[in-house]
Amino acid sequence: MTDLAGKHIVLGLSGGIACYKAAELCRALIKQGATVQVVMTEAAEQFITAVTLQALSGRPVFTSQWDARTAAGVDNNMPHINLSREADAILVAPASADFMAKLLHGRADDLLSLMCLARPLDTVPLIVAPAMNREMWAHPATVRNVAQLRADGTTVLDVGVGDQACGETGDGRMLEPDELLYELVRFFTPKVLTGQQVVVSAGPTFEAIDPVRGLTNLSSGKMGFAIARAAHEAGAQVTLVAGPVSLPTPRGVRRINVQSALNMQAALNQHSQDATVFVSAAAVADWRPASTADQKIKKDGSGDVPTLSFVENPDILAGIAASARAQRGALFCVGFAAESHDLLAHAQAKRARKGVPLLVGNIGPDTFGQDDNALLLVDERGATELPRASKLHLARLLVADIARRLPTQCPAG
Ligand code: C5P
Repeated sequence: MTDLAGKHIVLGLSGGIACYKAAELCRALIKQGATVQVVMTEAAEQFITAVTLQALSGRPVFTSQWDARTAAGVDNNMPHINLSREADAILVAPASADFMAKLLHGRADDLLSLMCLARPLDTVPLIVAPAMNREMWAHPATVRNVAQLRADGTTVLDVGVGDQACGETGDGRMLEPDELLYELVRFFTPKVLTGQQVVVSAGPTFEAIDPVRGLTNLSSGKMGFAIARAAHEAGAQVTLVAGPVSLPTPRGVRRINVQSALNMQAALNQHSQDATVFVSAAAVADWRPASTADQKIKKDGSGDVPTLSFVENPDILAGIAASARAQRGALFCVGFAAESHDLLAHAQAKRARKGVPLLVGNIGPDTFGQDDNALLLVDERGATELPRASKLHLARLLVADIARRLPTQCPAG
């Protein structure tokens, strides 16, 4: 399953050193199932050749409004019309400061700007990925142009921060190809969680025994991270409370790293105060050592082993589900259950015990550390199976399911 299957993207390149990233982006779009038609300005051709992009896209590249070749199967010598008519979106990456200024004024003296102006406004969205020196990005003219382009309905993406080709450091780098791909996928995702504040917990907890040892579990955090990403794609503001895992933070998601169950509880209690959805995907340790040694417990050669005693950790989810906010319907809580057998019965019992409207069951050994999973959604009416698929795909289905369960207007407070 690919993220852009069936989408036709017109990829426009204007002049800038970031053109080298457009080659990788073109590949990534195709890998995700899109068809790509490349259009380049004359300035872009100074940075990368049309040959490269033709090879990557598998289609002839168009560079001139006077190009008389058949465009999109039509023979009328009007590539600026034909190329845009079949597009699901035009993505200009890189969009130079000059190109954005042209767009803003509706100028149309090259194929790419002409095509952007001639596109059907209601059906062919225009997305631009700016790329320029930091002084150019910060210039009042560019700031004004970006604001006006947005007001005109163009999606102007963020820029990256860091080293620039000119040797300076700052804002203005074009986003990386994987970030652009993410933005495009997000662009096409129905915004079923707009206005929602979603908190997700993910990963294992780590319960310290001494400064160098501790107890943890095999949770990879992948399912929770996928849910955070899917919720953000669907338009929510997302806070991800993560136990110790080394996964990259999904783009646009606020991440709070925690270690122990008590740390996780403090963070979740705080951030669920103004959340409207809480998805508890973390594998929280049931017990923690009754005390943590200040110094490393040393082996003394006698053969004696230390005795560990444990205390039970609080049930974070049950506590939040019992809060006044959740009880009056302002916070929708979703629990997870990792079981080894009798999934339905255990999930139903757990749903009742935790006091949550929706509990997601999965088989622990089939999910821990893997990229795939299968889910069983259990609510008061029964159970729905989501068959084995990638965790990201399942996360998107789960997010859509949660969205359908939310009150249309969230009670305030
Ligand atoms: O009881 P069990 O650990 O199987 O329950 C799993 C669900 O409860 C998950 O949603 C998990 O995040 C949550 N949980 C919790 N606090 C605990 C244990 C589990 O929030 N101490």
